[in-house]
Amino acid sequence: MSESTQPHQQANNLWSSRMAFILAAAGSAVGLGNIWKFPYITGENGGGAFVLIYLACIFLIGVPVLIAETMIGRRGGQSPVATMRTLTKTEGTARGWRAIGWNGVIASFLVLSFYAVIGGWALVYIGKAATGLFTGADAEAIGGQFGGLLANPWELLMWHSVFMVIVVFIVGRGIRSGLEKAVNMLMPLLFVLLVAMVIYAMNSGSFGRAVSFMFSPDFSKLTTAGVLTALGHAAFTLSIGIGVLMAYGSYLPKTVNIARTAMTIAVVDTSVALLAGLAIFPLVFANGLEPGAGPGLIFVTLPLAFGQMSGGALFGTIFFALLLVAAITSAISMLEPVVEWLEEHKGVSRAKSAIGGGLAIWFIGIGTVLSFNVWESVHPLGFIPFFEGKTVFDLLDFLVSNLMMPLGGLAIALFAGWAMKRESLPADIGLQGSSYKAFMFVLRYLTPAGIAVVFLYNLL
Ligand code: TRP
Repeated sequence: MSESTQPHQQANNLWSSRMAFILAAAGSAVGLGNIWKFPYITGENGGGAFVLIYLACIFLIGVPVLIAETMIGRRGGQSPVATMRTLTKTEGTARGWRAIGWNGVIASFLVLSFYAVIGGWALVYIGKAATGLFTGADAEAIGGQFGGLLANPWELLMWHSVFMVIVVFIVGRGIRSGLEKAVNMLMPLLFVLLVAMVIYAMNSGSFGRAVSFMFSPDFSKLTTAGVLTALGHAAFTLSIGIGVLMAYGSYLPKTVNIARTAMTIAVVDTSVALLAGLAIFPLVFANGLEPGAGPGLIFVTLPLAFGQMSGGALFGTIFFALLLVAAITSAISMLEPVVEWLEEHKGVSRAKSAIGGGLAIWFIGIGTVLSFNVWESVHPLGFIPFFEGKTVFDLLDFLVSNLMMPLGGLAIALFAGWAMKRESLPADIGLQGSSYKAFMFVLRYLTPAGIAVVFLYNLL
């Protein structure tokens, strides 16, 4: 194990350009959250007004943490655990802040275990769409297909495994020949697929209704719960809080302006979410379906639309390919902190770290696979009223999404805003004068307050 500071900050081990980092970080941000979750929570919360609040949250809550986390990662230049250990020394802060690093590596490990299972669903649905299984099927048949998949542990396990193999393969090859090559190919592909979907939706769906649903705010439809959902999702969709951006930031050349780069990433992520809405809602409205259908929106409602429309089999396949690409570029970012940690602390080679870490994550993922069938009524913490009825998957999701991500994000904002030395911050962040002051005000007060409110709300 090397104790030299910033071991990742060597020329041959850095992102080859600012663009490469943007693609990788945007790839991490753009995921199931954009294509699966954003449209259905927008649908459930009545559209326009929700979208507006969401945009405000992205820039006031999400971007500041995105900037802080990347900056911390670049300054430390190591795995999240070692970065935080180094920084607590060099910044002369309390040792307790090191928990940020551990929280990151553990949360990335856990989140990938269930993210990969859902990524497997995308693989299954590409096959279903391509073989015309939705064509002419009614709501009951399509609901039955989704239910049938969840009820079959072997099928879920197989696709979970395939998905993990893809992720391990990419990450094992390293930053430049693995992650960079993958995002260089996958992100443009994602964009092309998305545009193809929107054009299809413009021609065969109720595009006008979708646009007014998403962009004409009706504040009477917005509830407190809706505002908090928007806030929580703004943090989730930017992949902040669990060390992924710290890990990616450790390979970021010193010359890159972090503030500007973070804005670009947020704009890309938001555009993809909005375009996904513009691809999905026209089809939903054209077929008289329900925009507020909940988590089943893209696996049940949307296949119904594909089954009714001309070209539906082709565009259904394109849509689920899009979902798969988005899931892969997020999943590789979740493996990176774990691999960095194994490499540094256990002295294992990159390929072996990816395989070993991937195997362990795959194994934990079996708990999620079983949660939908064999262990459906296993509720490990069911004796606590709050956790009543929660499966292993529900508990993991709760632990990571409602505890580790918000607490990590909060701690990162506080560490950068209050604990770190001030002198080099403006240069490191890439802001000066009044924009730096405004940024620091948001990071120190607004961001932590916003995260704290959502955190408490989700617990009560
Ligand atoms: N942003 C990803 C999405 O929208 C999900 C995500 C949340 C994530 N936190 C993360 C991805 C941390 C990677 C790392 O689907």
